[in-house]
Amino acid sequence: MRELTYLDHLRILMTNWGALLFLAGLAVALCGLLILTRARRTGRPQGSWERVAGGALLVAGGLLWSYLQTLVPTRYATSPVRGLSNEQVAALAAPIYSQHCAVCHGEKGLGDGPLATFVTPPPANFAIHGWHHREGEHYWWITRGIPGTSMPSFEGFLSEEERWLLARYVKQLGREARLP
Ligand code: HEC
Repeated sequence: MRELTYLDHLRILMTNWGALLFLAGLAVALCGLLILTRARRTGRPQGSWERVAGGALLVAGGLLWSYLQTLVPTRYATSPVRGLSNEQVAALAAPIYSQHCAVCHGEKGLGDGPLATFVTPPPANFAIHGWHHREGEHYWWITRGIPGTSMPSFEGFLSEEERWLLARYVKQLGREARLP
């Protein structure tokens, strides 16, 4: 797996809706900067500390927001398998999942595969972690792996389409596990 630079993250982000959220953060930071420079130019008493604090908060918040968008740059990417039904996804993804993932995440995705007791941190339970992440995030983790954990990168083993299938399948597994 090739290490990605920050620029690579940005490049990937610019290919999906995440780019808009990134730019919105920059716009907010720019507004904060304008407020700051105006507060400086007018000086006291108009350039009160509230203005400076507000401007600084907008700059910091905007930049932090934009930075957070770059961490998982495929969060808002469009899945190439979005046209498939859940049944079609399950039929295609289940064999791949059984072969590569169940050993850690368990057949039903509860994080209870045979290897689960041997790895720290334990494998994700998709009943808990499936639903509150977007497919694009699961796709990123399946593609890149999760540093500092035993979650491997599957970039070189599975095709892009297979990784998107799995990204959707783990959400489906999680949903099924949560049904009463
Ligand atoms: C060697 C064990 C192992 C294998 C094999 C494995 N995983 Fe994981 N996986 C993990 C661990 C451990 C984590 C949790 C990391 C953490 O706590 O942040 C994880 C996390 C994840 C996450 C992130 C979930 C979340 O919301 O935090 C996804 C998605 C995932 N795995 C999917 C897969 C898929 C799909 C496969 C098969 C292609 C697979 N994993 C194979 C160990 C494994």
